[in-house]
Amino acid sequence: MTVENIHVSLGERSYDIKIGAGNLGTLGALCREAGLSGTAAVVSNTTVAPLYWERVRGSLQEAGFRPVLISLPDGESYKNSRTLDLIYDGLMDAGLDRGSFIVALGGGVIGDMAGFAAASYLRGIPFVQVPTTLLSQVDSSVGGKTGINHPKGKNMIGAFYQPRAVLIDVTTLETLPEREFLCGIGEIIKYGVVLDAGFFAFLEEKGELLLRRDREALIHAVSRACAIKARVVETDEREGGLRAVLNYGHTLGHAVETLTGYTRYLHGEAVAIGMVQAALISEKFGFCSREDGERITALIKRLGLPTALPDFPPAAYVEALSHDKKVRENGLLFICNQGIGDHRMERVNDLNALLEICRIGE
Ligand code: NAD
Ligand code: GLY
Repeated sequence: MTVENIHVSLGERSYDIKIGAGNLGTLGALCREAGLSGTAAVVSNTTVAPLYWERVRGSLQEAGFRPVLISLPDGESYKNSRTLDLIYDGLMDAGLDRGSFIVALGGGVIGDMAGFAAASYLRGIPFVQVPTTLLSQVDSSVGGKTGINHPKGKNMIGAFYQPRAVLIDVTTLETLPEREFLCGIGEIIKYGVVLDAGFFAFLEEKGELLLRRDREALIHAVSRACAIKARVVETDEREGGLRAVLNYGHTLGHAVETLTGYTRYLHGEAVAIGMVQAALISEKFGFCSREDGERITALIKRLGLPTALPDFPPAAYVEALSHDKKVRENGLLFICNQGIGDHRMERVNDLNALLEICRIGE
């Protein structure tokens, strides 16, 4: 069985990402290798725990840990301080001390919340990420952004806190609903568009294999995406510059989510729409050829993701984009693709002109 290893080099906060197929049972050994000990509090939810807790428990037990499960309700609407309290309750009930650790078993919601619990409980205990959605495997489990939502904004409370290890078993994706799977495909395409032309070409060639969830193709794509994200995080851990490139497609994607009340599109679908618009804008600004723009749109469409902005007046998009005070005062920092495989950030003041370039409701 192929197991890829991606090292994230951040001095004393460095860690490994192990990517394989059917390697969930090696979690206990990986935690040992990472120098962990004591009780392993596995934070998961009512969807994922019934599928994978038994295997995780067995592996941790075999390696000499004391596994306990903290199972939370499932959904982004639970990514809040009340659910965080449930995690703290579970940690205290299990008597977790500084010599113990947390395992996040689930998608990005679980990873972000469990990571923030680890960053804050007893002023910080170690944690390990076991992401089980494609989006969390290629994005949220790597790089140490943790947190919860606040009624006044998404991901407003949080910390940069790196995991001690990440274990990715691509066979866990076999139980993932199709729409959730496609959201991860969108984030994978993003890495190719703004950071790696060779990876984009691989996706053009092997896209359908990925859609069939071919294990070897998934290991390759997830490893490459993690390697790209690792290099970005190593260069700019706290998002002072380069890391913002990972927000490609997110600016208009967020506007779509806001205007549709977070119900019509999943986050990854909204980002896919945002990426198509970003490619159109990049072409108009002269940063990429028409052919490059068309390749980006064609791949997103071919792999089953939406491409057009939902039918709201341009002024509604402008309003959604200018919500942020910083944007109103200094203009919008918009992430463009430079050809395919590179990027540039552009300060945009005229949001009306930006919306004229976009494709609404087609
Ligand atoms: P999610 O965690 O809500 O998971 C999506 C759904 O799939 C959930 O119902 C979940 O229970 C279910 N699920 C998970 N694994 C499964 C499996 N193997 N089989 C069957 N069902 C499974 O959503 P997500 O897309 O993974 O993550 C979105 C979250 O990630 C958002 O809160 C976002 O803010 C956050 N995020 C964080 C970062 C970061 O850098 N920290 C980056 C991107 C996104
Ligand atoms: N998903 C954006 C980041 O990790 O920075």
